Amino acid sequence: MAALNDPIPAGRDDWWRHAVVYQVYVRSFADSDGDGVGDLPGITSRLPHLAGLGVDALWITPFYTSPQHDHGYDVADYRDVDPLFGQLSDADDLVARAHELGLRVVVDLVPNHTSDEHEWFKAALAAGPGSPERARYLFRDSEDGNPPNNWESVFGGPAWTQVEDGQWYLHLFDSTQPDLDWRNPEVPAMFEDVLRFWLDRGVDGFRVDVAHGLFKEASLRDQVVEEGKRASSGQVNTDHSMVSLDLKDEPMWDQPEVHDVYRAWHRVLDEAGPDKMAVAEAWTQTAESMAAFVRPDELDQAFNFAWLLADWSAEAFARVITDTLAAVEPVGASPTWVLSNHDVVRHVTRYGGGEQGLARARAATLTMLALPGSSYIYQGEELGLEQVDVAPEDRQDPAYLRTGEAGRDGCRVPIPWSGAQAPYGFGPGTTQPWIPQPAEWATLTVEAQSADPSSTLSFYRDALRLRRDFAWSAGEDVELLDLGADVLAFRRGPLTAVLNCGDAPVALPEGEVLLASGPVDGKLPSDTAVWLR
Ligand code: NOJ
Ligand code: MG
Repeated sequence: MAALNDPIPAGRDDWWRHAVVYQVYVRSFADSDGDGVGDLPGITSRLPHLAGLGVDALWITPFYTSPQHDHGYDVADYRDVDPLFGQLSDADDLVARAHELGLRVVVDLVPNHTSDEHEWFKAALAAGPGSPERARYLFRDSEDGNPPNNWESVFGGPAWTQVEDGQWYLHLFDSTQPDLDWRNPEVPAMFEDVLRFWLDRGVDGFRVDVAHGLFKEASLRDQVVEEGKRASSGQVNTDHSMVSLDLKDEPMWDQPEVHDVYRAWHRVLDEAGPDKMAVAEAWTQTAESMAAFVRPDELDQAFNFAWLLADWSAEAFARVITDTLAAVEPVGASPTWVLSNHDVVRHVTRYGGGEQGLARARAATLTMLALPGSSYIYQGEELGLEQVDVAPEDRQDPAYLRTGEAGRDGCRVPIPWSGAQAPYGFGPGTTQPWIPQPAEWATLTVEAQSADPSSTLSFYRDALRLRRDFAWSAGEDVELLDLGADVLAFRRGPLTAVLNCGDAPVALPEGEVLLASGPVDGKLPSDTAVWLR
């Protein structure tokens, strides 16, 4: 696909290798029909924003038929569009328009669990214990009236729910998201068909939800729980990062059998063409275990959550860079970088919020965009949006509903496009979006920021435009430079990136300043990054 401004060198199929991928959270991007919920025609109408921003691809969170208990990550029909978001022809139109604009389209695939409204689960409930219908899920008996093991849901509470006839089913997430039994051959067969279904419709790739899940240790034995630690690790936690990766014993995650699935998917993708890709959402313990998902015959990329989890310190960032490059190099995959997504606190807020949080967020972004590999950016970060403190009555995240704790609604508030009051052009008319937008967003709309060359939006546009000139040609080698303990500095081809994590300004190395994340005057101020040539 050669299109306008396409930075990918002619003849290369692996477009993802140095791509910038923009994550669209479908409910909250753009609402075309005025029901307060974003939808596929809304995304299509705003694709020019993404093309103008300078990204290479978009990843769209699940828009399939779903009762929306986990906002689409509870899929009732993998081969149809939920009426809330449109219809299949809207998905086709979106893909076609994106391709016209030179944007690839990555869709979300949710293989670990279905919705409890999926026809398979309804059949399982109807058919009863011991039936082949139940054998597609993880139904178990328990002797003593307690759940069959001690596993906890990632969203809090037990990972088991009992049905009327006394059996229990496993759900590592919400009780409306029963886990599939991937040892049952019907399950992989179904998902290969789903992959083909969307490949036939022209999508360019898949984001694989809970890619480290799927298989559980066959015994479903108890997890050995260290004191004070959660029984089930997952991405939703109540601390700032919302991530807990400090558990040692994980019989529910990262089992070796899962890799056979990805080998099979690799073949399915290959059959569809050399330019099809898949990226894993795998919250694994180490950079090495992450790299296993991107061996040459498996998936193409995996999100690098270590980057998002790193503290604000030059040393922490340097360590993640070194570990990441060392892990992916032997398998030949391209590294990835991410600072925000729909499951974690927005990075402006993680870095302290306000002016300092924004300065750090911009600096971390500029640093990320200098690195080899792909960067994944989350809708609204190009506007410098902060996490919103959503009122308890407006919260919808099942993680909040199950625990009464923070949850993820605050990073999912609909995007402000234009105008001086909510819904800020998110939808037509004055219909308010499904989560209220804060009054402060009046100055942060796409419209307001487009007119201001010093806005965060203009900064992202500048960075992405410049990046196109070196993303593919600057090579994959990163040489870390020693400019003092508070400074992360590295050279990649002709480019030098410098990030000052300390409190005092530091001297800049020689070179022409291409772009800075904030004002630079001779020296590099704290919380600022710069690209030099
Ligand atoms: C990861 C997704 O990003 C998250 O939003 C979802 O709740 C879980 N997987 C379960 O599907
Ligand atoms: Mg709508």
